Amino acid sequence: MGVEVKVEGLTKSFGRQVIWSDVSLTLPAGEISVLLGPSGTGKSVFLKNLIGLLKPDRGSITIQGNDLTKLSERKLYEVRKLFGVLFQDGALFGSMNLYDNIAFPLREHTRKSESEVKRIVDDKMEMVGLAGTERKLPGEISGGMRKRAGLARALVLDPEIVLVDEPDSGLDPVRTAYINQLFVDLNQQIGATFLIVTHDVNTARTVPDNIGLLYRRHLAMFGPREMLLSSEEPVVRQFLNAQRQGPIGMSEEKDVGELEAERQAGYEMPPLPPIALQLLPTDGQVRAGQRPPGAWCQANGVTPPPGSFQDPPGVAGSAGNARHAQSSGWTKPAGRADDDTLALPRVEG
Ligand SMILES: Nc1ncnc2c1ncn2[C@@H]1O[C@H](COP(=O)(O)OP(=O)(O)OP(=O)(O)O)[C@@H](O)[C@H]1O
Ligand SMILES: [Mg+2]
Repeated sequence: MGVEVKVEGLTKSFGRQVIWSDVSLTLPAGEISVLLGPSGTGKSVFLKNLIGLLKPDRGSITIQGNDLTKLSERKLYEVRKLFGVLFQDGALFGSMNLYDNIAFPLREHTRKSESEVKRIVDDKMEMVGLAGTERKLPGEISGGMRKRAGLARALVLDPEIVLVDEPDSGLDPVRTAYINQLFVDLNQQIGATFLIVTHDVNTARTVPDNIGLLYRRHLAMFGPREMLLSSEEPVVRQFLNAQRQGPIGMSEEKDVGELEAERQAGYEMPPLPPIALQLLPTDGQVRAGQRPPGAWCQANGVTPPPGSFQDPPGVAGSAGNARHAQSSGWTKPAGRADDDTLALPRVEG
């Protein structure tokens, strides 16, 4: 379940404005990836390239052996059915109630009877926690509900790939936490490959299996979460830790003067914060892309920041580490003493 998306050497410009060039990454099948980047770096443009709404100048996007950039409109229309997309603003039709909004792709793309449509729409509305709001218009519900309605609509065609553009913009922290949990649960239930564009550092630190960062017209880095979360690379560090100090300024790049001023002020980047455990599905299952906490660091000889991979304070008895350690193939390496950073598996007292 879920399909791999392989992007190679992708370049996109509008006129003479290069948005990004030579972007290469692979979204592993069934895993959740997050794409970060300062505002205006072309994250939304990247998603639109993935579904063929925009054409890149160069490069390829390979899904199930097809290069999307070379497909005819007719074949592209077929391949697009693999995707479920939640656009930045939810993109609901204002004059249609939620039921009709969510039913829209089914009525448009399939020949299902209205009773089948109803079964699917009810199911997806239940999944995103919107049961009972069928007759509401988008203008009558909160921003968080609109996002969830957009998500339900993105799911009705049983997508293999789910693209989500800033699901958390305009949401309060509690609703953001709920929608993040919803992504992890959905990913576990439907097994689709997820790519989530976000500005929310907490989301980036806990939701994905992989993280990418677009910066200065390039993909600065893409890889397993532990690689990015333990990275000393200044841009990655600054972004993932939401710091003002570092190479990224208000208008994307700081000038030499600003950086020099920071250097002269003796500013050093604060130590890396601990790597948190990933969010787990609520139904007690493991994630599709789940690996034991610390496995990437260990395999690559990287010492994670002190205090990494522990249950957050106050989550008594969540047995997070025990569940994380259920991932297949995980055995604690022989001869390795437990320490603060790799206390695994940990038994709750
Ligand atoms: N259809 C278009 N024609 C011309 N320029 C465009 C088009 N779409 C986007 N752009 C430009 O591409 C750049 C990247 O835009 P994009 O919306 O992808 O940024 P973003 O990273 O999603 O930003 P944000 O985080 O604010 O949503 C911007 O400079 C924008 O003006
Ligand atoms: Mg955007």
